[in-house]
Amino acid sequence: MIPAAGRGVRLGPGAPKALRALSGTPMLVRAVRAMTASRAVSLVVVVAPPDGEAEVRSLLDDFPLAGDRTEVVVVPGGATRQESVSLGLKALPDDVGTVLVHDAARPLVPVDTVDSVVAAVRAGHPAVVPALPLADTVKQVAPRDAADATAPETVTGTPERALLRAVQTPQGFDRRTLDAAHATFETAAREGDGATDDAGMVERLGVPVVVVPGHEEAFKVTRPLDLVLAEAVIARRRA
Ligand code: CTP
Ligand code: MG
Repeated sequence: MIPAAGRGVRLGPGAPKALRALSGTPMLVRAVRAMTASRAVSLVVVVAPPDGEAEVRSLLDDFPLAGDRTEVVVVPGGATRQESVSLGLKALPDDVGTVLVHDAARPLVPVDTVDSVVAAVRAGHPAVVPALPLADTVKQVAPRDAADATAPETVTGTPERALLRAVQTPQGFDRRTLDAAHATFETAAREGDGATDDAGMVERLGVPVVVVPGHEEAFKVTRPLDLVLAEAVIARRRA
């Protein structure tokens, strides 16, 4: 499943992020291809912006999957990522046992990363995330005092960097585990306490989540500089 319903506010003004082109090909199309490159993937559910289902369908028809017969279904998404993934899950056929959730905003993930997530789920882990060690030291800060938004933030702690991981997608799940997580935390999401990734909800259920190596090229296109990096990666692949 590819959640692609976000607006891409941090990327700046323009079309919804997933529909923007990278070197001539929409990010979403690249993300779909990155998934269908894996032999393990037999169905792709794209979660489109709530009012953009028809636009996404026609975009995908404009960029067919050359030589690949994977079925691609488009469903409308919601206001938050968690809601979009919930809506995508409801569109999955009953016989699907393993689900990968992959951000449209990570169009360049290599197939080896996809396959290692799948392999770990098939080996019996109900939840699997690809992740990398951090380059930057991370600080925790105190919540800002709303009354004084100009005051500098105060550091409250420094988690040990060696024990931190930056988590990517695709995240892989036993389907029933992911369904249960979404069913349990639907209300939390509506109340603004939603999860920023799918494994986060599974953790809250108390189900173990395991890590496999991520990949630098699975970075998320979030800010304008990420577009420069994505174009450079595409150019390097062509060279
Ligand atoms: N997403 C979604 N539905 C939402 C919000 C996000 O399907 N309501 C998807 C995005 O399309 C993206 C992925 O979740 O593929 C990761 O989210 P993010 O990188 O935050 O994308 P946006 O929410 O679009 O960007 P921003 O937060 O800058 O607006
Ligand atoms: Mg977002």
